[in-house]
Amino acid sequence: MKFQGSQNYVATQDLMLAVNAAITLKRPLLVKGEPGTGKTMLAEEVAQALDMPLLQWHIKSTTKAQQGLYEYDAVSRLRDSQLADVDGGQRVKDIHNYIVKGVLWQAFTADQPVALLIDEIDKADIEFPNDLLREIDRMEFYVYETRELIKAKHRPLVFITSNNEKELPDAFLRRCFFHYIKFPDKDTMEAIVKVHYPTLKQDLLAQALQNFYEVRDVPGLKKKPSTSEFLDWLKLLLAEDIGPEALRSKDNKSVVPPLHGALLKNEQDVHLFERLVYMSRTNR
Ligand SMILES: Nc1ncnc2c1ncn2[C@@H]1O[C@H](COP(=O)(O)OP(=O)(O)O)[C@@H](O)[C@H]1O
Ligand SMILES: [Mg+2]
Repeated sequence: MKFQGSQNYVATQDLMLAVNAAITLKRPLLVKGEPGTGKTMLAEEVAQALDMPLLQWHIKSTTKAQQGLYEYDAVSRLRDSQLADVDGGQRVKDIHNYIVKGVLWQAFTADQPVALLIDEIDKADIEFPNDLLREIDRMEFYVYETRELIKAKHRPLVFITSNNEKELPDAFLRRCFFHYIKFPDKDTMEAIVKVHYPTLKQDLLAQALQNFYEVRDVPGLKKKPSTSEFLDWLKLLLAEDIGPEALRSKDNKSVVPPLHGALLKNEQDVHLFERLVYMSRTNR
């Protein structure tokens, strides 16, 4: 199993190396990076390239580790027991009918090796990663209600993503292979854009890239625009038929670009950028 990138996804050499290292080590690949740098998409693309089904678990602040294993639906069972005469009470007698399988269970018992994405693990509370250590390490867990041991038939290929909102515990980190997706440089970004807009004119692309990195380089921005925001902005430029000349003043100074709402998402950042543009124009 080797990942070589894909037609829809631009993977740098070191990212491909990291994916293959995680596969070799049989450890989860922990991918960090700014939002919008293609972490979620990486799991989708690797799964597709290696022809594995992808099970996705999107983590929220309220997600508990147990939900990834299974949940016992006691409420349904109680309700069914009160309506027991419907099917002679057969369903209620068997507790298996009230065990709801989580994604890890599904991944462990799938007939073929699968990829498993645990997306945005840093959203959950601090205990969450630790609570999954044993299951991810040993690839098994115990169901107390039914006294069953669920063991992985095939070890799933695990991707874990983090936007770096919280630190992860050391014991957890020890078990992962780590990769940080650096923000793409201009050449990589150009390649990414070409994947999405193969027919985009070169002069517009070159100018838009320049504007985009100018915005990103403004010191003190609260939220730097990411790859996905740049792609959105390009889509708008194309839809509105805006040419490269609108992204630059006549004397080749920076301007506040049209439709900058796709790039800058709060008023302080817009002010900051406008002030910088104003200063660069009066400073001639
Ligand atoms: N390397 C890349 N190749 C192609 N498209 C990319 C790449 N990185 C980001 N994108 C685009 O940016 C969007 C956001 O990516 P996503 O995986 O959701 O980011 P993250 O999970 O890191 O926040 C994707 O839908 C894709 O269109
Ligand atoms: Mg994501």
